[in-house]
Amino acid sequence: MNIMVIGSGGREYAIGRALSQDAAVEKLYFAPGNGATPALGENVDIKEYDALAEFAKDQAIDLTIVGPEAPLTEGIVDVFKARELTIFGPSKAAAQLEGSKVYMKNFLAKYGIPTASYIETDHIDTAFKFIDTLGTPVVVKADGLCAGKGVIIAPTHDEAKKAASEMLSGKAFGEAGKKVIIEEFLDGYELSMFAICDGEDYILLPAAQDHKRLEDGDQGPNTGGMGAYAPTPLVNDEIYEKVKASVIRPTLDGMQAEGAPFEGVLFIGLMIVNGEPLTLEFNVRFGDPECEILMPLLATPASELFYKAATKQLDTLKVQFKDEYAVGVVMASRDYPYKSSEPAEIVVDEIVHTELAEHSHIAYAGVSEMDGKLFATGGRVLVCVGTGESIRQARDRAYALCGQVHFAGKKLRTDIAYQAL
Ligand code: AMP
Ligand code: GLY
Repeated sequence: MNIMVIGSGGREYAIGRALSQDAAVEKLYFAPGNGATPALGENVDIKEYDALAEFAKDQAIDLTIVGPEAPLTEGIVDVFKARELTIFGPSKAAAQLEGSKVYMKNFLAKYGIPTASYIETDHIDTAFKFIDTLGTPVVVKADGLCAGKGVIIAPTHDEAKKAASEMLSGKAFGEAGKKVIIEEFLDGYELSMFAICDGEDYILLPAAQDHKRLEDGDQGPNTGGMGAYAPTPLVNDEIYEKVKASVIRPTLDGMQAEGAPFEGVLFIGLMIVNGEPLTLEFNVRFGDPECEILMPLLATPASELFYKAATKQLDTLKVQFKDEYAVGVVMASRDYPYKSSEPAEIVVDEIVHTELAEHSHIAYAGVSEMDGKLFATGGRVLVCVGTGESIRQARDRAYALCGQVHFAGKKLRTDIAYQAL
């Protein structure tokens, strides 16, 4: 099988790594890929979706897998499907589950999926009135995609009103903030669940926990994620069953009823409050760094999973996961998430310890290749992944690998998976 992966991050590297170890995969392409993906396949420098679809036809690519949300919300899947190409990801219509928070919240309400109580509005007076009915803190969200910055947890009513005004005036996020969601604050613990969907059937992956804040102890600013682990012991069978019955099934049925069947990765951001899963958000793609720790847990060949999902055959797949844990620690550049940093050469020591070599690896993200050397050129540079029979063992291996990786200004959290230990 020839496969193309769209994207350039650690998530796409992880998908590509799994595919590169899969005997069914002949040629692997990344569009555009990063400085490390040429070790796994071939980078393709084509941006335009029509031209990418042409390329897929010319190279007899059997399956394209889309990593990031931007091409999905822009309709890359529709472009490929119009040419009868097989592609894994949601249509532009289905991608609204992530692209518009208003669409998502109204969808949850319409299909009775538990979530925080909220209003959507583009009127400042309505926003202020609703804020006054809530306790504190108050959650204020911009409607559109804001690169993870569109959610404000305001400690007081005044601060919530200020955030809402700034969004509605267009000052904070431009068009993306001209409609807002005002929402009750949920006090619980957060989980990420991922369902691989084919429109009708799905496969639920082991639950993961991300660490969004920059600093240890969940302090500092929000980031795209500084580390993750799975499966998390914070989820028991009862929670899995509740998520399946009260979130995933009604979502797939609801999207069918809306005429936008959901194919692709349904990423469910959950808050567990008193044992009940409430949906915070949907994303329509894998989490990053969650993908980097979920891929190594997959025992079924990755090509089979994604191909069957893209061709509506998940009902025929018996997916298997390894009986292991995976922990991923992000190494970011010095000024992440504030600004970009100077390129810094990455040096990885030779790993002489065979046990470590066999149970850990690097998923490369914000890296570029220059003169045969690898440089840190992005915010989140790479993820050190460890696997093991326990979370502790996987964590120790991930951190042992971190000790072997060097670049100027490297920044990492030292407490990934602390809630599970
Ligand atoms: P979202 O993009 O909607 O997932 O929001 C980003 C982050 O804000 C989430 O991962 C949560 O940590 C937090 N958050 C969002 N909505 C709520 C809420 N209603 N109550 C508590 N925390 C929230
Ligand atoms: N790690 C969270 C995300 O990818 O949105």
